[in-house]
Amino acid sequence: MTDIKAPASANEESLLRVFTIPETSESTLSLIEKEISENLNGFLEQQIVAMQKPIGQVEEDFNSSVIPEEPMWVSDYGDQMLQKLISHSVHTSSPGFIGHMTSAMPYFLLPLAKLMVGLNQNVVKVETSKAFTPMERQVVGMFHHLVYQESPAFYEAWMHNAGASLGAFGSGGTVANITALWAARNRCFGPDGDFQGVAQEGMCAALKHYGYDNTVVLTSKRGHYSLSKTADILGIGRNSFIAIDVDAHNKIDIAKLRQKCTELTAKNIRILAIVGIAGTTETGNIDPLEDMASIAQEFNTHFHVDAAWGGATLLSNNYRHLLKGIEHAESVTIDAHKQFYIPIGAGLVIFKNPQLSDSIEHHAQYILREGSKDIGIHTLEGSRPGMAMLVHASLNIIGRQGYELLIDRSIEKAKYFAEQINAHPDFELVSEPELCLLTYRYVPQAIQSKLLNCTEQDRQAINNILNELTQNIQKNQRENGKTFVSRTQLTPEKYQGDTVIVFRVVLANPLTSYDILRHILDEQCQLACQQLTLLKNLQFIGH
Ligand SMILES: Cc1ncc(COP(=O)(O)O)c(C=O)c1O
Repeated sequence: MTDIKAPASANEESLLRVFTIPETSESTLSLIEKEISENLNGFLEQQIVAMQKPIGQVEEDFNSSVIPEEPMWVSDYGDQMLQKLISHSVHTSSPGFIGHMTSAMPYFLLPLAKLMVGLNQNVVKVETSKAFTPMERQVVGMFHHLVYQESPAFYEAWMHNAGASLGAFGSGGTVANITALWAARNRCFGPDGDFQGVAQEGMCAALKHYGYDNTVVLTSKRGHYSLSKTADILGIGRNSFIAIDVDAHNKIDIAKLRQKCTELTAKNIRILAIVGIAGTTETGNIDPLEDMASIAQEFNTHFHVDAAWGGATLLSNNYRHLLKGIEHAESVTIDAHKQFYIPIGAGLVIFKNPQLSDSIEHHAQYILREGSKDIGIHTLEGSRPGMAMLVHASLNIIGRQGYELLIDRSIEKAKYFAEQINAHPDFELVSEPELCLLTYRYVPQAIQSKLLNCTEQDRQAINNILNELTQNIQKNQRENGKTFVSRTQLTPEKYQGDTVIVFRVVLANPLTSYDILRHILDEQCQLACQQLTLLKNLQFIGH
């Protein structure tokens, strides 16, 4: 595809062209553009090479730290990018890529994303975004309504209100969780008499003023690592982020949570927030949110729900009940770039009471003035793109009913896959799907019965070998490049604290067929059979 041309040189005319007129329709970039708009999946399938080049070798193409002195023809760069970057990226929308929370995307988002980049609105302030401000406020309002279902009068009063925000749109779940606990911290240790509040005077002064020895955030052991990042950033410290044990279904142990709250209160430690999870990252389970809400009320603390993954389930009238109790949360995180099928870079935090946003309000003289409708007054991030436009489009084009169908199909698919795993003699389902996420591992039939009737030492030895087996199968499957599942570590009750490495699958891609799922199990069986030494070692244990 490389045209033979004289070397490019930096001159005003060519630079101006870069900002105005695209190259001829035969340039590599134009061809890429045409192909992706006509057949995105096919294009990616052709371009992304199955045999993965080791990352160390890929690094060789990105070794120079010097900004190129000479300009380059756009078409030459296009060729290079195709070979060095695109072909060694990951086909996250492939129907066989069921290891992570990325999926196929609705086609209409591509031209809209291009338009979004072209318009380059900065939603931090009305002066650089105009209609994008009310549009984003409406998206936040729709998510608020999805969770809290307040009256039309409530949204009329608050959605476009200059004095408060129903939540904050940001780049993802991490920023949403940080924002939620930031607001919780500032409210918990707010201004009081001479004390100007934690936002102004910091954590040390706050604890001193309120007379506490420390402050903590509680969640389950399945809590996402963004929560411990938050504890770090907010000056509470990672040690003050307390992880409570889970039950056999990976849900927070309510009795232990209450016991911990009582213990901490007796020690003069202020519980800053309790965080429930609606869709744990590793197993997809939902905490008992109603019970957690009443404990939060009992101990007078902020209740936040991290529904980054599972929040979209609220769109399904058939499964909405699984998140019962979420409406009691003072704040809720939902990622739009997970089960809302938006490209990466879109997440939201929603505040039950819009006045909670007062606690994180910031102003500046040149923008974000008092009384303005600038969204940046209540967001952690400053300059932000108009990503809400993509969410707005999807909510309108797919609609609640469309999303309901997507959510329902994903959950049915996970149940089907769980049935296949249960019916197969050589696989063990480790966590049942509650949403569309499950974990399992390869355990030869004879070993499954041995595991249940052996000494503790033998059980641990078997689990250690199985861990190596799971790791090897997962790695080889990824390297084969046809399908992909991820892996994680769990400690299932059944194995009394043994660490167990499992395959983790997320079945949210609407293009993943039941055939592909059966094929994945077949491929894993074949890969397992190649692990002769490990299989032999398994047989010898206990003999
Ligand atoms: C439950 C949960 N919370 C928070 C996050 C963080 O979201 P993000 O990666 O969008 O920052 C994730 C990401 O997987 C998650 O699963």
